[in-house]
Amino acid sequence: MFITRYRDFTRMNHWFVALLFIAAGLTGLALFHPSMYFFSTLFGGGYWTRVLHPFFGLLMVLGFVGLFFAVVRDNFWTKSDTAWVKKAPQLLKGDESGMPPVHKYNAGQKGVFWIFAISLVLLLITGFMFWQPWFAHFFPIPLRRIAMLVHAIAAFALVMSVIIHVYAAIWVKGSFRAMTRGTVHEDWAKSHHPLWYKEVAGKANQEVTRKKH
Ligand code: HEM
Repeated sequence: MFITRYRDFTRMNHWFVALLFIAAGLTGLALFHPSMYFFSTLFGGGYWTRVLHPFFGLLMVLGFVGLFFAVVRDNFWTKSDTAWVKKAPQLLKGDESGMPPVHKYNAGQKGVFWIFAISLVLLLITGFMFWQPWFAHFFPIPLRRIAMLVHAIAAFALVMSVIIHVYAAIWVKGSFRAMTRGTVHEDWAKSHHPLWYKEVAGKANQEVTRKKH
């Protein structure tokens, strides 16, 4: 049996952010170093790459705001997450047996989620600080230079965390359909997210009981 993990709107929101991440990432890399300038051919050349990059970034951040509020409640850190992190080396060896029971997201997913949120806030603030010709002149040149450096570091953190995010989605078999179809197999939930499964199954039982009366 399959159970619902994401509603349609959250999935559309997620793929909108993922698409814009690719667009903002490729235009950003083209502007970052001449060796990656060839990416600009995908966006109509250097001029359009420069024009579009800030808008792609802005739309990605706006899209992420929706996603943030849809999932933040399940991403707050708990004591059991700290215990999970301590046991993570065992999980990386492929042994999930002694891991503390997980709710909707494990500590690794939560860590990645917060890196997404922090790096996107930094990218947004610093991006405005050197966005020519509209906003850059509000900031002194030394501050703009610092902003550029922080922008590059935050982009690096975001790209690395997305790579981990995608790798984990492929590695944990059965995760992908959560974001494509919105459902996961009951066995997947029982084995990777037992506390979340208990909650969802409990609610479903209550619904059935309510309908009977
Ligand atoms: C580009 C390829 C991407 C793929 C294949 C992918 C795949 C997935 C999958 C399968 C899930 C469900 C995981 C679960 O429920 O356990 C998920 C959740 C999520 N994804 Fe992505 N994703 C991608 C990009 C992104 C990007 C660029 C962002 C944001 C910057 C993002 C943010 C999220 C968030 C916030 C969740 C909810 C789970 C959480 O809070 O950890 N994803 N993704």
